[in-house]
Amino acid sequence: MSDDFYEPYDRLVRLIVMGRAFDVPADNLLLRQLQFVAPDVGMGRYCWNGECRYCEVQYQAAPGAPEYTALACRIKGTQGMRLTKLAPEVKYNVAEAWAAAAPADE
Ligand code: FES
Repeated sequence: MSDDFYEPYDRLVRLIVMGRAFDVPADNLLLRQLQFVAPDVGMGRYCWNGECRYCEVQYQAAPGAPEYTALACRIKGTQGMRLTKLAPEVKYNVAEAWAAAAPADE
């Protein structure tokens, strides 16, 4: 897979996606970070500019932190971020990677 999609990064950060660990490039948009683990995201029907909302997620920045709704094409995932709910398009695109991912240590 080409790395052309990604902003430069010097490390991976661990996201917890519905209880599974996804190690993704730091300093990239969350939707790109998900694509790193789940290439099917590149086939999704995303606008990538904040209009379609197909990339909507709910997340906590850390365990016990407030839960927010955000667009994965507009925010960057950070170490320890927990994605608790995914829009159907995202869920569909990450399903295979999610099934193969290791359960996160909680
Ligand atoms: S990809 Fe369309 S709003 Fe994020």
